[in-house]
Amino acid sequence: MSNAEHHEGTRRDFLYYATAGAGVVATGAAVWPLVNQMNPSADVLALSSIRVDVSGVAEGTQLTVKWLGKPVFIRRRTEVEIEAAKAVDLADLPDQIARNANLDGAAAATDENRALDDTGEWLVQIGVCTHLGCVPIVGAGDYTVEGGIGGWFCPCHGSHYDTSGRIRKGPAPENLHVPPAEFVDDTTIKLG
Ligand code: FES
Repeated sequence: MSNAEHHEGTRRDFLYYATAGAGVVATGAAVWPLVNQMNPSADVLALSSIRVDVSGVAEGTQLTVKWLGKPVFIRRRTEVEIEAAKAVDLADLPDQIARNANLDGAAAATDENRALDDTGEWLVQIGVCTHLGCVPIVGAGDYTVEGGIGGWFCPCHGSHYDTSGRIRKGPAPENLHVPPAEFVDDTTIKLG
């Protein structure tokens, strides 16, 4: 098998696992190596703070960067995603804590307490499912809006996160975590 064929086979396998849905232990095991591949070398791990240029991130898209060995999702949300997130009643949330490292640990999981900026356009989260650590897929699951925008789905065991990254359905116990983050100028976000 040539290299190209080999790659194609690998990619097909991943797509299969990514869409396989709930509950099989083998699925989790297959997705784990992808997380491990993202682990950076020791010198990168030492960078506890990084700056990310977000000037090229269009509305309705997401940039994934590595920080402290973990994927971080930097999403520029559409108005519809923001409105959907704000409309949710706190009582409907399985985890009512914001999980935002920039706020008091008891802060409520309102969308305002999770978004990075006042308009709610920017949402920064650690892209690690709070169940067993797989990387959730954006634009999938039961809480997307407009037929597939925003929201995250973890295919390992079927956890659905809404357009604010809050767990809504499935085994994950907590909302996606918001790392220490701030805008240091109009187009640069500092993580850590
Ligand atoms: Fe189990 Fe995400 S790791 S649902």
